[in-house]
Amino acid sequence: MTFTPRVFSGVQPSGSLHLGNYLGAIRRFVAMQDDYPCIYCVVDLHAITVWQDPADLVSATRHVTAAYLAAGIDPAKSIVFNQSQVSAHAELAWIFNCVARMGWLGRMTQFKEKAGKDRENASVGLFAYPTLMAADILAYQATHVPVGEDQKQHLELTRDIAQKFNHDYGARLAELGHADGLFPMTEPIIHGPATRVMSLRDGSKKMSKSDPSDNSRINLTDDADAIAQKVRKAKTDPEPLPSETKGLEGRPEADNLVGIYAALAGTTRDAVLGEYGGAQFSVFKPALAELAVNVLAPLNDEMRRLVADPAHLDAVLKDGSARAAAIAAPVLADVRRVVGFVG
Ligand code: TRP
Repeated sequence: MTFTPRVFSGVQPSGSLHLGNYLGAIRRFVAMQDDYPCIYCVVDLHAITVWQDPADLVSATRHVTAAYLAAGIDPAKSIVFNQSQVSAHAELAWIFNCVARMGWLGRMTQFKEKAGKDRENASVGLFAYPTLMAADILAYQATHVPVGEDQKQHLELTRDIAQKFNHDYGARLAELGHADGLFPMTEPIIHGPATRVMSLRDGSKKMSKSDPSDNSRINLTDDADAIAQKVRKAKTDPEPLPSETKGLEGRPEADNLVGIYAALAGTTRDAVLGEYGGAQFSVFKPALAELAVNVLAPLNDEMRRLVADPAHLDAVLKDGSARAAAIAAPVLADVRRVVGFVG
């Protein structure tokens, strides 16, 4: 069976969104709308794998939705919804919990990082996080998933689950007319400049909402002054910028700032260095701050406008959920029959 190309991706509603979420994920989601039917999810079920204050979860869900729309995702064309409104995700995740092996999940680096030393105290949901992610993707038989580099391992696991399901239920699938399997081998799409945006305080760490220093990240809700100040304070080294990307090796902070500039300007690191090679950071940083403000200010304004009208955002999510549920329903019906559930 060949699968109709379809894109699925998701962002967690936990904490505030930052430049890494925008450049690494949301902006790329926008670009894919012209080439594929796309489903963009606010993964609230994933968010609660670590404690979320309920009122904050409500607000973060609306914020991610607002960021999707402000960035240019068209909810008439693409499907925008929150995960918990479509029960297929939780249902298929349970079945995948019975397909995936403990050993597979135990190898996931994101679990090891997030659970830290106190693994005994991590939620069962945090351990099972990747099976829910596989369910997100495979409930829609999605073929392409734009994600950051850090999610590659979860995509590999998604393929392992799809393959094992197709294999374990092979005979039954053939009887029911799915001789080539029910689930596609989903491809991650990882490319473009600055898919990995690093901390402004430490070029070896990802920009993250959980970093205790707010100066380490540019939040999508930061105003122009805050953005300019964070860029000014960003960690650098004393050397001027090199004139070729090779010169950025071993200079993670310089590499990060050049990468951010390139991504914001829609160009390459080489082109940026063509212009700023030899320049001191005292020259480059103000240019970067101005560019960041120019790109982010309209996004920021539009997010504010959208967040002020929660009823509209909730209606978008409800409409998207109904459309998503309609796509997942026949897949889940096949899964139930294949597994041998009566009814
Ligand atoms: N785990 C992803 C992240 O943290 C979010 C996510 C959940 C996701 N389900 C997904 C991404 C399905 C792509 C497809 O970035």
